[in-house]
Amino acid sequence: MPRASVVGAGMTKFGVHDSTLSELFAEAALSAFDDAGVGPDDVDALYFGNAMGGQTENDTHLAPKAASRIGLAGVPCQRFEDACATSANAFKNAVHAVEAGVHDTVLVGGSERCTPVTGLGTAEMTRIFASASDRHYEQPTGLTFPGVFALLTKRHMHEYGTTEEQLAHVAVKNHANGEHNPIAHFGKQTTVEEVLEGPVVADPFRLMDCCPFSDGASAVLVTSTDRADSFDDPVDVSGVGHATDVVPLGAKPVPHATEAARKAAAQAYEQAGASADEMDFAEVHDCFTGAEIMASEAIGFFEDGEGGPAAEAGRSSLDGDRPINPSGGLKAKGHPIGATGTGQIVELTEQLRGGAKERQIDGATKGLAHNLGGDAATTVVTVMEVRE
Ligand code: COA
Repeated sequence: MPRASVVGAGMTKFGVHDSTLSELFAEAALSAFDDAGVGPDDVDALYFGNAMGGQTENDTHLAPKAASRIGLAGVPCQRFEDACATSANAFKNAVHAVEAGVHDTVLVGGSERCTPVTGLGTAEMTRIFASASDRHYEQPTGLTFPGVFALLTKRHMHEYGTTEEQLAHVAVKNHANGEHNPIAHFGKQTTVEEVLEGPVVADPFRLMDCCPFSDGASAVLVTSTDRADSFDDPVDVSGVGHATDVVPLGAKPVPHATEAARKAAAQAYEQAGASADEMDFAEVHDCFTGAEIMASEAIGFFEDGEGGPAAEAGRSSLDGDRPINPSGGLKAKGHPIGATGTGQIVELTEQLRGGAKERQIDGATKGLAHNLGGDAATTVVTVMEVRE
C-alpha cells in the first residue's frame, strides 16, 4: 500500500533564466505551494537538488539559501547531488522520510542553470558535466557525456541492429510532444530527415539526438497518504527503486543493458505490486535518443532490441500503446540537471490528475519515471498512481 503522496507540484519553464539558483527554485516552490493550497508553515523539511552550482556559478550551500527565499528558514534542509539523477534521489529520500514518520510534509525539488547566462559556453559546460565520469579512466581520455551515450548506443546498434532512423524517430516524437508542453525548452517540431541531416555531435548522435543545456527548477510536496486525504487531487507514490552500476563504463559487463535501471525498475514494480504492462506511460531519461531506447527496454516496456523498432512504429508516441515522454522528455522539454528528476514527477502528477491537456494520456492511472545520473551509474525509478 502506498504511504506517501504528492499533493502539490510546480515548475518554471525550462529554457534560459537570468536569475540565481535560489530565485529560480523559489518560483517552482511557490507554484507547488499554490497548487497544494499550503504555505511554508505547513512544510517540515526541504530536500533540495543541485548538481553543479559550485562549478558553474560559485553558488554552494544552496539548501538554506533556497529555504530563506520561500520563508522556510528554520526547518531542516539539505542538498543532494547525484549528477543528472540529483532530484530523483532527493525525492526518494523525501518519500522515505515521510514513510518513516520523520517528517510530515517535505518540499523536494531542484534547480540548475546550464545555458550561457552562467557565462560558460558549450565547451566549458561539457567539461564540467564530465566531472561525473571516472576521474582516472575516463576524464583523461577526453570522454564526455555525448561520447558516453554514443558508445552505449553503438553497442546497442551492434547487438540488435538499431538504426539511426530509429533514433531519429525518438527525437521527432519528443519534439512533437514538447510542442504541447508550455514549459518545454523547445516547442518546435522536427522531421526524421532534419534529424538525419544535422551535424554530428558524437557518432551516431547528431544535433537533434541530443538534449540541450537548460536552466530551470521544479518542486513537489510529499506528505503521508493519510494527510493527503485533506488535499485536492493527491497522487500516490507506490514505489521508488534506486540502484547503482559500476564506474567506469568499461567495467560494466553488459554496458548497453543499463543494469542499474533494470534493478531500480524491478524494485519499484515490486513495491508497487505492479508490472511494466500496467504502466500507462513513462517519463524516461532521454539525454540522447539512444538513451531513451535503452531505458524503454530496461523498464520492461519493450523486449531487449525492440526499443528501436517500437519507436519507429510509433508505439511510444502519445497515441501509441506504450507512450514514453509525453512531456517532450529531456530532448525537447529540456535538461536543467538538478531539476530534471522532480520535473518528471511534476509530469507524472499532471498526467495522473488528468490535467496534461493536449499531451494527456487518456485514462492514465499509473505512470513511471526513470532518471539516471552519470554514465548510467545511478538510476532512480518511481511508480505513481491515481488514488483508488
Ligand atoms: N536540440 C535541438 N536544438 C539544439 C540543441 C539540441 N540539443 N542544442 C542547441 N540547439 C539549437 C540552438 O537552439 C541553436 O538554434 P538557433 O541557431 O536556431 O538559435 C543552434 O542549435 C545552435 O545552438 P548552440 O548552443 O550553439 O549549439 P552547440 O553546438 O553549442 O551545442 C550540443 C549543441 C548538442 C552540442 C549541446 O546542446 C549538447 O552538448 N547537448 C548535450 C548536453 C549533455 O551532455 N547533457 C548531459 C546529458 S547526460
